[in-house]
Parts: sequence; C-alpha cells; structure tokens
Amino acid sequence: MRKKVTVIGAGNVGATAAMRLAEKELADVALIDILEGVPAGKALDLTEAAPIEKHDAKIIGATGDYAQAKDSDIIIITAGIPRKPGMSRDDLLSTNMGIMRSVTKEVAAVAPNATLIIVSNPLDAMCHVAYEASGFPKNKVIGMAGVLDSARFRAFIAMELDVSVENTHAFVLGGHGDTMVPLPRYSTVAGIPITELMSQERIDALVERTRTGGAEIVGLLKTGSAYYAPASAAVEMAEAILKDKKKILPCAVCLNGEYGIHDLFIGVPVKLGENGVEEIIEIELTDSEKEALNHSADAVRKLVEDMKRLG
Ligand code: NAI
Ligand code: 2OP
Repeated sequence: MRKKVTVIGAGNVGATAAMRLAEKELADVALIDILEGVPAGKALDLTEAAPIEKHDAKIIGATGDYAQAKDSDIIIITAGIPRKPGMSRDDLLSTNMGIMRSVTKEVAAVAPNATLIIVSNPLDAMCHVAYEASGFPKNKVIGMAGVLDSARFRAFIAMELDVSVENTHAFVLGGHGDTMVPLPRYSTVAGIPITELMSQERIDALVERTRTGGAEIVGLLKTGSAYYAPASAAVEMAEAILKDKKKILPCAVCLNGEYGIHDLFIGVPVKLGENGVEEIIEIELTDSEKEALNHSADAVRKLVEDMKRLG
C-alpha cells in the first residue's frame, strides 16, 4: 500500500519537505495550510513538475480541510511563524504554541496512528504542546532539530578539512537553541574523531558557527529562516520511519530518566523505525558535556514553565 505523509504549513519548510518527499517517492503527500489557495497552488505546481522529475507521488493541497490528512503514516508540522532578524526562536513561543495546539488536535483526530514530526519553533517546547494535544504515546512524537544542527556541523567540518560531506558524521544534542550541545568527540571524518584532525581553536570556531547556524541564515535572508536544510532533515527522519530503517539520528524526544532527565523533550540519539522512536541511546558523556546538556535542559524547562503561565 502507498504510504501517506501530511505536511501542515505550506510555507518554506513545508513546501520544500513536500517536494523532497515526492521526488524521493517516499509517499503521497497532503499539504495543509490556513492560507486560501496557497497549498493547492503549490501542490499543483509540484504535480506539474512530476513528469520532469520522474515520480508518481500524488500531491494534494488543502486549506483547513483536515479530512485530507486521514490515515496518514506521518504528519510533519511546520505551521507557525518563523524568525525575523533580531528575534530568537523563543520569541515565537506564544504565537506558535496556540497554532501547534490547534493543528495537532485536528490531525490527531483523523490520523490516530500517525507519527508526528514537529518542526515549528521553539522546537523542544512545541514538542511538549504536540505531545499533550495529541494524546499520542511518547514514541510517536518526535522533534526535528538535531539532524539539522548535526548537518550544519558536518557541512562546516567538510568545508574546513576539504573532504566529502559523505565522510563526515556529527552529533549535536540538547535543545534547539543557543544552548545546543555539539559533541566534537563523537564527530568524525571517515571514523576519525575531529579532535585528532584539527586544533581546539578551529573546533571551537565550528562549534560556535553551528550554534548560531540558524541566526546566520536569518541574518542573510532577512525575511525568514532557513528551509532547504530543515526540510531535508525532516524528510530524513520521515524516510527512516517509512522504510523502518532503524536509523540512529539525534532527535528531540521525551526522556524518562535517560541522561538523568525526566519528562522533558530534548535532543538525544535515538533509533527511528516503523514504531517511531524505537530506542533512546545513552552515550557516555564527560562531566563538561553532561553539564552542557543539563544547562540546555534547564533552558527548555524554562520555556515549558513559561507556556504553563501563558496557558
Ligand atoms: P513560513 O512562514 O514560510 O511557513 C509557515 C506556514 O505556516 C505559513 O504558510 C502559514 O500560513 C502556516 N500556518 C500558520 N498558522 C497555521 C495554522 N493554524 N494552520 C496551518 N498552517 C498555518 O515558515 P517556515 O520557514 O516554513 O518555518 C515554519 C516553522 O518552522 C517556524 O516556526 C520556524 O521557526 C520553524 N523552523 C524550525 C526548524 C527546526 O530546526 N526545528 C528549522 C526551520 C524552521
Ligand atoms: C534554524 O535553525 C530557524 O530553527 C531554525 O534555522
């Protein structure tokens, strides 16, 4: 049977994710937004590209019609507002919290067995909203951030050492914000830790560029935030689930005591397969890495507390 992915929010990230899903023939795609005409227009445009791109994925677009999401295998939620220059991801909290709650309720009602991939910011806090609003089990609510942040780190490592990106591997854990935790010890080129390949000064510079990678793009675009790499990251997660790949990726998931953290969505390595999060993987951390992860968890916890106050 053909797989189905619904993407909520037909903006930059959502439409690009729909394009990549279709071009990789991973699933039929439903694109839903509140804007009149936009999801239908983008879906039709993508459908008209199909003969050239040589895929047979069906793409439909709908304004506010959640019946189109019925029985989806995966729902990718990108609805919300993005950052503008000078804004942090956390400035989006109150607006995106209301949007996330309402769209999650709609999709959970028509696709009760779906896995949710959350993209909207502030990411870790939005996972909490989606988890509560959906009533889905913890393994079916997954946030996209670590795959993007790790891809940025990988791109910078490849640029620095003039090697293929395919040789690079990186792990960025923690919350998707300024406190994220890139792990140089677990970041490698052809299996060799980067700590053996470049000076501490260069590693620190790449870590800092990774932490501020989102803001670097916002500063250049001026009217919004990154979307090509974020869409690729969300689609890599969807592919791992749709194909039951058992792929290990850094994702925001609800921890139950792993890493000493309880009832909080934060980025850690997990195994993704047809059941969503199939395992949370605990890697050894040094005292300073643990401290950085705890500091990041505190920042996410603060946002969760802020949301309680906002109602
Ligand atoms: P965008 O503004 O291009 O698209 C957002 C879309 O959501 C718009 O088309 C808007 O009409 C729609 N929308 C708003 N309210 C809605 C509702 N109630 N129901 C359905 N659709 C609704 O923004 P973009 O660039 O696509 O980013 C989307 C979100 O993803 C932002 O919050 C952004 O910060 C976040 N983001 C997160 C990343 C991550 O690593 N987790 C990476 C990139 C973006
Ligand atoms: C990013 O990291 C905006 O969170 C988004 O590009």
